[in-house]
Amino acid sequence: MNQDELKKAVAQAALDYIKPHLDDNSIIGVGTGSTANCFIDLLATIRNDFDGAVASSEATAERLKGHGIPVYDLNSSAPLDFYIDGADETNEHLELIKGGGGALTREKIVAEVSKTFICIADESKKVDILGDFPLPVEVVPMARSHVGREIVKLGGDPVYREGFTTDNGNVILDIHNMDLSRPIQVEERLNNVVGVVTNGLFARRPADVLLLGTSRGVQTITRDKS
Ligand code: 5RP
Repeated sequence: MNQDELKKAVAQAALDYIKPHLDDNSIIGVGTGSTANCFIDLLATIRNDFDGAVASSEATAERLKGHGIPVYDLNSSAPLDFYIDGADETNEHLELIKGGGGALTREKIVAEVSKTFICIADESKKVDILGDFPLPVEVVPMARSHVGREIVKLGGDPVYREGFTTDNGNVILDIHNMDLSRPIQVEERLNNVVGVVTNGLFARRPADVLLLGTSRGVQTITRDKS
């Protein structure tokens, strides 16, 4: 299977995972990116089995609405039973790097208020140690230089994502060459830098279930919470 077929396979696996739990009142948290888009397109095929969705980005909201799926404000919908989203990298503890598409802040908020976070990814995203993929950080524009200097002090190389504005009106710094062997500590340390909105490490609140698309089929990996 090629990468697109793996994305469709994990999206189908996510649909199969949640479908038995849905009813007329169900509101599903939906992520952002090409893998999440596969899931949205499949969600449309069971449109009458749930109420609607909460979107982690404007792009996702538009795609959901395009399928006739109602999009609700998170403030009137949380807590959610399920959040389904892709990732840029995952380790064996289901700690993730996200934000390649720049939607990390809303993604982290929806993940936080969801009982079960299902990550859907093809096997190219599975790594031993996070950090080959540059770590996105959403920053208030006036703090860009300050945050960049603080990131250098922490051992990273920040690169300004030119010409990109997040749905929240902020900018992104992508951190290269940072030691992410202790993801929770790095996540918390970066979030303490004034001017940082959030960063793309999902370690404090990792995924609960990883549906990983491999050439041998979709593997279901459940996080050990003990
Ligand atoms: C967007 C994200 C995406 O989940 C991540 O970039 C993966 O995207 P794709 O499924 O297209 O590989 O975090 O902000």
